[in-house]
Amino acid sequence: MSQQAKEQARERARERAKELRSQLQKASYAYYVLDAPDLPDSVYDRLYRELQDLETQHPELLTPDSPTQRIGAPVEQFNSVRHNIPLYSLENAFDSDEYLGWQARWQRLEPDVGEAPAVAELKIDGNALALTYEDGLLVRGVTRGDGIAGEDITPNVRTIRTIPLRLHMAPGESPPPVVEIRGEAFLPLDVFAEINQARAAEGTALFANPRNAAAGTLRQLDARVVAERRLDFFAYTLLMPEGTGDVTPPVDQWGALECLQSLGFRVNPHRQLCASAAAVSDYYQQWDEKRHDLAYLTDGVVVKLNSFELQDRLGFTNKFPRWAIALKYPAEELPTILENVTVQVGRTGAITPVAELRPVQLAGTTVTRATLHNADRLAELDLHLGDTVIVRKAGEIIPEVVRVLSELRPDNAQLYRLPSTCPVCGQPVVKPEGEAVTRCVNGSCPAILQGSLRHWASRDAMDISGLGDRWVQQWIEQGMVKSVADLYALTVDDLLPLERMGQQLATKLIGAIADSKQRPWPKVLYGLGIRLVGSTNAQLLADNFPSAAALSQAEEEAIAQIYGIGPEIAQSVRQWFQVPANQSLIERLESAGLQLKSTQQAVSSQSQPLSGKSFVLTGTLPTLKRSEAKSRIEAAGGRVSGSVSSKTNYVVIGENAGSKQAKAEELGIAQLTEADLLALLASA
Ligand code: IVH
Repeated sequence: MSQQAKEQARERARERAKELRSQLQKASYAYYVLDAPDLPDSVYDRLYRELQDLETQHPELLTPDSPTQRIGAPVEQFNSVRHNIPLYSLENAFDSDEYLGWQARWQRLEPDVGEAPAVAELKIDGNALALTYEDGLLVRGVTRGDGIAGEDITPNVRTIRTIPLRLHMAPGESPPPVVEIRGEAFLPLDVFAEINQARAAEGTALFANPRNAAAGTLRQLDARVVAERRLDFFAYTLLMPEGTGDVTPPVDQWGALECLQSLGFRVNPHRQLCASAAAVSDYYQQWDEKRHDLAYLTDGVVVKLNSFELQDRLGFTNKFPRWAIALKYPAEELPTILENVTVQVGRTGAITPVAELRPVQLAGTTVTRATLHNADRLAELDLHLGDTVIVRKAGEIIPEVVRVLSELRPDNAQLYRLPSTCPVCGQPVVKPEGEAVTRCVNGSCPAILQGSLRHWASRDAMDISGLGDRWVQQWIEQGMVKSVADLYALTVDDLLPLERMGQQLATKLIGAIADSKQRPWPKVLYGLGIRLVGSTNAQLLADNFPSAAALSQAEEEAIAQIYGIGPEIAQSVRQWFQVPANQSLIERLESAGLQLKSTQQAVSSQSQPLSGKSFVLTGTLPTLKRSEAKSRIEAAGGRVSGSVSSKTNYVVIGENAGSKQAKAEELGIAQLTEADLLALLASA
């Protein structure tokens, strides 16, 4: 190639790389910040790969704000850095009197002002970050630390998709030389739940709440791990200490939030400009209810006087700004007395100690029991009966004991120890070295059997309605049922002698059990309760191994080949099928007429009519039961999920549909009636 041709090729590559960066950056902004995707994933991936290839061929084209540069290499440690401008914290108010007290205090300093407009924002329960942009480019992300100095965690901040690597400016306009943006990094509740589930499965200590999980994630030294955790960020403060470039400087907090939004940040949409204390109080009360529907935790409302001029006049005390206050929601963490400890035996034999508590009102409910997780956790807590303990209820997790106030321990209080035998079957329990979980390993322990039956009958598995604990318990006690396969041998006559059982009920129950024989193979597989095989994994396994016979013969490596199935799951599946008792269970289920293979031949999920389509069902449908609608969608290859997101394709609306419909409208997602759904299924 001639020198000139080379030069031209390089120039074309440069132009193309620039165009790709801009397209990818726009698409990622639409997807993550606006929650309104405008490019199909497949197109995004193709453009991304094209950019990656160009950058590999022409390393000189790499720019720090390239979408390919979000995830960096692991680092050895983070450095402490001083904040240029300290991060103040906020004074708290817990009720309207305290709020009015704050108002009266600042009004005394500014007697001419009266009721000044204030911005009410949700107080996001996360970790504050300070981000520095120089000439529009993200150069530093630092944790709050003690407000004076924090840790420089720039590589981790770069992985947060809702934080732009370059400020958005109109073409030809220049950014301020230096901008500092502050806001809250947080973990959405669903991600928090996933992380803790994974930790529970691994036996590592659980994060107490999303804030701790976010803090733990932000401190990870490996940015690849951070990137997987889907941290998110809401911006709320904009500082331009050295001039504003072509940015029109905002004169109030409301304008600053809008400005942050136009610079490419995610700003919480639920802000409100309030003209009076009464308006603030309305907002606070409204969100006390609605906050439980949010995808993240809020622990209160932050109220900031809107006018920057007024803010400047009021200034700061040595701890707080005088112009802002946090109006907190009641504590979700309170002390109470530990009256007793009981132990539960789960379907895997896991022994879980449970604290029996003196009743305490927490986040709107009365809490009388809280999990103590496992023996390791017990040892950490050094729990004595009669101890005063701190109980917490946060987000969607069950209440738990977070701490013991040992200074309040009564004299001669007894240390609590887990029993050495299973409280249900009396056999010795086992705690393998290095594992957190203590287990009953007696395969015929009634508690394990009861748990297995409960799981088998549950909605996502065989969906057997009416198979409540009170029947199951009697069947187990009387030796009528020793495994899930025994359910299919029960007759109406078998049930009649049971306490409180009648002909009608017995007929119904036996009918429901018989109906469950129609459940498809993935449901059966999930119902078996193999360790680490939840419903999603069961579906993946069933997609790839269309029968129990095929799966039972599969090598561990072949199972682990499946996209989404890790080696640990593969090992667990392999081990399960090697146990003779499980092999005979499969044989018995097969001869009872259950679906141990997929009914459609050659189910490549790709080839199905609704494959790749995601549905959300909301409200009561006129004729279909929710489970029916779900299984019909799934039979056509679609997926049904519980919450509406930008990835949802259709929301099926029934009567009394609530926030999910609103969300669908907000995101512009297609809405279907039951009739539309049926038509879609018929045409599929
Ligand atoms: S403003 C001087 N706004 O709450 C202004 N803070 O208790 C201080 N927070 O450290 C911050 N949501 O981590 C502000 N909308 C919001 C907030 C918020 C959460 C956190 C932030 C701060 C803490 C103060």
